[in-house]
Amino acid sequence: MAEYDVVIEHVDKTFPGNTRAVIDFNAEIEQGEFVSMLGPSGCGKTTLLRMIGGLEEATTGRIFISGKDVTDLPPSHRDTSMMFQSFALFPHRTVFQNVEFSLKMRGMDKDQRAAKVWNMLETVAMDQLATRRPSDLSGGQQQRVALARALISEPTVLLLDEPLGALDYNLRQTMMVELKKIQQETGITFIMVTHSQQEAMSMADKVIVMSDAMVQQIGTSREIHETPRNRFVADFIGNNNMFKGVIQSRSGSMVFVQANDQLYYIRVPEYIRQVPIGQEAHFSVRADLMHTGDHPDMANKVRGSYVATEFLGTLETDVFEIEPGHFVHVEQHRKLSDTSYQIGEMETLSFTADSGMLLEEARKPEDLDL
Ligand SMILES: Nc1ncnc2c1ncn2[C@@H]1O[C@H](COP(=O)(O)OP(=O)(O)OP(=O)(O)O)[C@@H](O)[C@H]1O
Ligand SMILES: [Mg+2]
Repeated sequence: MAEYDVVIEHVDKTFPGNTRAVIDFNAEIEQGEFVSMLGPSGCGKTTLLRMIGGLEEATTGRIFISGKDVTDLPPSHRDTSMMFQSFALFPHRTVFQNVEFSLKMRGMDKDQRAAKVWNMLETVAMDQLATRRPSDLSGGQQQRVALARALISEPTVLLLDEPLGALDYNLRQTMMVELKKIQQETGITFIMVTHSQQEAMSMADKVIVMSDAMVQQIGTSREIHETPRNRFVADFIGNNNMFKGVIQSRSGSMVFVQANDQLYYIRVPEYIRQVPIGQEAHFSVRADLMHTGDHPDMANKVRGSYVATEFLGTLETDVFEIEPGHFVHVEQHRKLSDTSYQIGEMETLSFTADSGMLLEEARKPEDLDL
């Protein structure tokens, strides 16, 4: 059996005034895993993190850390450490003193403390700036001090709430790599809250996608990217093209869906048991699995008029309108020498039957038998 550091069982949080911030949350987090919780503003991420850390009481459900039920224990008895978005460093103390603080509180002797602090400052590459005060540091440096301060107590689990939120784009890219490196070096379980898909997908071993106070999907970045389970996840994970239609018929693991006056032939994932024939259904096609041109080997084709191109290095996304207001994104590597489209130019877009993913409805609080 896998060693779980954190187990969350049927956790609910209802705030006074009947705000349901977290509903029936279940997750198992392995030792040394880097987990990110991803979802839009207000979906309950911070509340869940605070419940794991003991800063907020769960209304119902149990939370276990290293096999021990900590649901009713205060933060100081949980072996967790929390890093806040604002860093919350002590302004009048030096970098060294900020990191040293919790060891001093625990009554560790001076030499032992110093050795540990220097070691930690080296890990986060802040040993050269140990005598500075937070106001004389850049955002990224403050972030590293906050990280060192959270890690110095050697928690089983480090809880990070939007740790990179205050940093500008370039620094965020650098710190993402560093955070991941430090996590791997220390082997501490990280649970990180973010609303950035890129942060979640690039750093985490496991991603928990939330919306509406509920878990929508738990999986590796690859699983979430390749097999979004429902409409919310497919839509939220950015590079999916969404289609709405009516299921005409089923043949084995495939269905015909009528959408935009066309018949599409797409795959039914094995976890979808009931295919509602004659009813409305949604499917998605990843932008990188959508192709321009008429490909004879691809079952699905649709015509669209060229709208715009978005560039990201050598990767470009061409946008086509296939019916008023319905835009399809085609992501591909193109060379400068490739011909460019004129606005309004018609093009055929193709995708294979396997690229289409039939989607379940998103989980909603009202679906639960409460
Ligand atoms: N102390 C509180 N009292 C009442 N309602 C609260 C309290 N804290 C949070 N909420 C509500 O619970 C819901 C979830 O809040 P939470 O802070 O967990 O969201 P979040 O996912 O972290 O959002 P963000 O990305 O904006 O930080 C929101 O509707 C919020 O208004
Ligand atoms: Mg939050």
